[in-house]
Order: sequence, then structure tokens, then C-alpha cells
Amino acid sequence: MKQLNVGVIGTGWCGGIRAIAAANSALVGPLHIAEVNEARLAEVTGLVNPVSTTTSWEDLVGNPDIEALIISATPETTHYPMTKAALEAGKHVLLEKPIAITLDEADDLIETAEAKGLKFTIGYSQRFNAKQALAKRSLNDGSLGDPVSILVSRHIARSLGSKIGSRTKLSPAAMESTHDLDFAFWLLEPRRPVRVYSQMAWGARKAEHGVPDVQYVTVTMDDGVVVNVGGGWSLPPGYPNFASTWIEVLGTEGALLMDASHKDIIFNTMDKGVEFPLSTMPGEYVDHVYAGPMERETTHFLEAVAYDRPVMVEPRLARMTMEVYLAADISAERNQVVELPLAKEEIAAALAAVGTS
Ligand SMILES: NC(=O)c1ccc[n+]([C@@H]2O[C@H](COP(=O)([O-])OP(=O)(O)OC[C@H]3O[C@@H](n4cnc5c(N)ncnc54)[C@H](O)[C@@H]3O)[C@@H](O)[C@H]2O)c1
Repeated sequence: MKQLNVGVIGTGWCGGIRAIAAANSALVGPLHIAEVNEARLAEVTGLVNPVSTTTSWEDLVGNPDIEALIISATPETTHYPMTKAALEAGKHVLLEKPIAITLDEADDLIETAEAKGLKFTIGYSQRFNAKQALAKRSLNDGSLGDPVSILVSRHIARSLGSKIGSRTKLSPAAMESTHDLDFAFWLLEPRRPVRVYSQMAWGARKAEHGVPDVQYVTVTMDDGVVVNVGGGWSLPPGYPNFASTWIEVLGTEGALLMDASHKDIIFNTMDKGVEFPLSTMPGEYVDHVYAGPMERETTHFLEAVAYDRPVMVEPRLARMTMEVYLAADISAERNQVVELPLAKEEIAAALAAVGTS
């Protein structure tokens, strides 16, 4: 079997997981990493034994041997220029969410990937959780009947909210609920969202980062199914990057109620008090076992490239999710319902609100 030549750009938290997953995969031969933080570069080099390392991501894009790139850098404004250059250089790309900052950028990436016949997918890792997969299957096989409504409430730790808030002013809907909007729209395909209403609540995050603590988004689909997603990032410490989620999928013939609040493990020490291990969104390695979705998601991308299979997250759906969270931000700002598709001036207003126009 011919092994893939793979690069990872940005090997922080998620990129580190992706690099280890790639290094562990029999599908991958040479592995290259690009990371601007030299201490982190050295740390990840020790973990994955790459054939080349660099502090300049352009080196990986310019390397003709590399077939696939995983782009996990921050801030989120790096996503478009890195991905555009990678696709133009003929690389298959797995890009962390968000797909881009503007819809025009997202369209450009999708069109470039399609024109070049490349795999291009977005890191909506939550689809690779068994609970989310069960929801998809239960709607697909008819056991829940026709969908009526979907609710997801997700809260993450304040420390992670701080990390995100210090690099971007993108909203909780854009940075966090985006996963759950993607999940809902994936379940409801081929329905399309037509109307969005959102409210933000301001609390502990306002003074530090000028962002709300919580954002609630209600989306009406074209056949009347209602999606309700709440996302917050101000929970007190419980575990580094703790996430707690509750999911309800209601259908005409059944209901799926899923607790992903991570209360099932209590780790209590004199040193740190009570913690809730294995409670992060991407998951983590526990020696030889991976707990969470990101390892499988990474392998899925590598398989899609190696065996020319379709990617799980079609980028046009990521673009649709982006339009919905931009609409949510406009709705919250104006205290109004927003109809889709967004008009050009509304898109400009949403981007101006986060200082990216
Ligand atoms: N799917 C998930 O569950 C999930 C969870 C968290 C974050 N994310 C997304 O993943 C992305 C990464 O988040 P993170 O928490 O891993 O961030 P991070 O800050 O821990 O890692 C980003 C890394 O990129 C490096 N970097 C910055 N500029 C670079 C450049 N020009 N070239 C090379 N490296 C560069 C940084 O030094 C850092 O190590 C974000 O866009 C975020 O939205 C996804």
C-alpha cells in the first residue's frame, strides 16, 4: 500500500491531536509539521517524529511531495489564506472550523477545491461522537419518524472561553454552537434553514473580552422543523477545556434524549479537588486509547484521501452553517428575526460587528 505524505499546520491543542493521529495511522508515511511556537514545535516533534519541521507554513504548501494538509492554526483569520494556498498547490485539506471569516472566502475555497478535484472538509468533530452518529442513524432508519425539533445546549469552561476570546471576537454561535448547528443541519438534510432568531446574555465575559457569556439561537427549517441551540463559555473550572452538553431529538414516532454532560467520571484529588476527565470536545489520548471524536475524524479524512472516498463534512454545509451563525449575530444585535438567505448588506453588518469587514 502506498502511504500518504501528510503535513499539519499549527500543532497546538487540536493540531497536536491531529499530528499524533496521523503519525499513528498506517495510512501515513512521511509526516511534516509547521508550527510558529518553537517550544511547541519541539514538544510535538518529540511525540510524532516528523520527517521535516518548520516555523513557516509556506514550506509545507510549497513541498511538492505533500499530498494532504491538516490546517489547525489560530487565529481563525489564518484559515482562509492557508487553505487557499494549499488548495491552489493541489493539496487535499482538512481545515478546522470555522471554514472562513466571510462567506465570499468560504465560496472561494469551495470553488477552488471543486475546480481542482480535491478533498476539502471542515473539522466538525462532533459528528464523530457515537451519540451524534446514533441520532443520524435513528432519523435515517425511520425509528424516530419525521423530525419535529432538535435542541442542543452546550457549555464550556471559562478558561477555554478566555483562550478563544483573547484571539477573536467571533460570537459563541460562530465559535461553539457552530458544531451543534452543523450537527442539526446534518441530521435534517436536505432541509434548509429559512429563519433565525437569537439572543445573547452578557455576564462574566463582558469585562475581560467584550463577548457574551451565552448565545441562544432558534432556527426554523423550510418544512417547519425547529432547531434550538444554546452555547456558553463561562463555566467555572472542572477540567481543562471541560464541555457539558444536553441533546434532544424529537420525532413523530420517538425521542432521543442524550446526556453528554460528562458527569460519569468524578476524579477527586487533594491537589485539584473534583475534576471531570475525558470531558473535552475533541477528546484526548489515554495511553493507547483515544476518548472522543477527533482521532477518528482525522483517520476518516486520511481514508477519504487514500481510498478516494467522500468526506463526511461537505464544505457547502459548513458554508450554510456559517450563514446561520452570521444571521444569529445580526438577529441578536437588532433584536429581530432574520430571514435567509442573507442580503449582502446584512453580511457586511455582521462582519463589521466583529471587526472583520
Ligand atoms: N473540533 C473541535 O472540537 C475543536 C476544538 C477546539 C478548537 N477547534 C478549532 O481548531 C483550531 C485550533 O484551535 P486550538 O485550540 O488547537 O488552537 P491553539 O492555539 O491551541 O493551536 C493553534 C496553533 O497554531 C499555531 N500557529 C499560529 N500561527 C501559525 C502559523 N502562521 N503557522 C504555523 N502555526 C501557527 C500556534 O502557535 C498554535 O500552536 C481553531 O480554529 C478552533 O476553532 C476545534
